Amino acid sequence: MNKKSMYLVLGVAAVVAAFLLGGVANLFRAEETTARPEFVNVYTSRHYGVEPVFERFTQETGIQVRFTTGSDAVLRERLRAEGKNTPADVYMAVDAGNLWLAGEAGLLAPVESQVLSDNIPSHLRDGGNRWFGLTRRVRTILYHPDRVSPEELSTYEALAEPKWQGRLVMRPATHSYTQSLVSSLIAAHGPVRAEGIVRGWVANGPTLIDSDTRILEALAAGQGDVALTNHYYLGRLLQANPQFPIRVFWANQNDRGAHQNISGAGVTAHAQNRANAIKLLEWLATAGQEEFASSNHEYPANPKATAHPIIVGFGEFKADTLNIGEFGRLQAEAVQILDRAGYR
Ligand SMILES: [Fe+2]
Repeated sequence: MNKKSMYLVLGVAAVVAAFLLGGVANLFRAEETTARPEFVNVYTSRHYGVEPVFERFTQETGIQVRFTTGSDAVLRERLRAEGKNTPADVYMAVDAGNLWLAGEAGLLAPVESQVLSDNIPSHLRDGGNRWFGLTRRVRTILYHPDRVSPEELSTYEALAEPKWQGRLVMRPATHSYTQSLVSSLIAAHGPVRAEGIVRGWVANGPTLIDSDTRILEALAAGQGDVALTNHYYLGRLLQANPQFPIRVFWANQNDRGAHQNISGAGVTAHAQNRANAIKLLEWLATAGQEEFASSNHEYPANPKATAHPIIVGFGEFKADTLNIGEFGRLQAEAVQILDRAGYR
């Protein structure tokens, strides 16, 4: 073998060796990728019952959920401050107004998902696919049957009539539940009539309590006869005490239906585990839907899922199908109306 052909053989051998070694290295890398634990990081203000649901997601998918709880506004502020460095892949919130604000602030990235559009009705999600409702909560009329008969009740608007003077228990204006309810009045009637209704409530001198649970306990204890709260607080109290005396009345059944809101979620703009985040949302909308909704006595957003038996016991009702993004869009106006009407 002359020198030239020896170099040629050595050269070919080197290329073959490099190729083989590279292949082996790639094999190890592939192994490493599959063995690396998968995560999704969630910032959530919905804290009731999330842990067992996330655990089941991990069992079914192998993706571990790390979650941080806090108030909606604080978690949004944290996302904003962390920017590109945020560890959060998912922002989960209660009340559509909060998700709407996160979307408008550029904190969420749109998700195109056939699973989500097939399973979540369009009025329960953002038109721009930045957030999706996962459970439904209905803010309706609650009453003490010893002091009120259901025939006396009809609508949110009718609670502005003078017969309810000194008998109402409601949540303060600072809470998003109150603001979204007033947004729904603006959507239904325009701002002028909405303000008139709020003024009527205020004229009845409602007792304001900043906790739906305490509102219902006050009603049970005889402080007031009629209240507005989310339905699941009664579900929770009935779970603890089936004899709890307060009853649900479904508001506005002869017109637009009872005011419903959501808890829901979106994928953050800077998610580092975006694929896992989408998987979590899709799972919560389908396989995990019933457990997720039932964990807080909420109605499923997915119409194919069944609700918890306690709230099935509240009976069938018609819910307002206004797109819930409207509660966000109208929130600032609702706050002004509450303020002008003297609702504190
Ligand atoms: Fe709540």
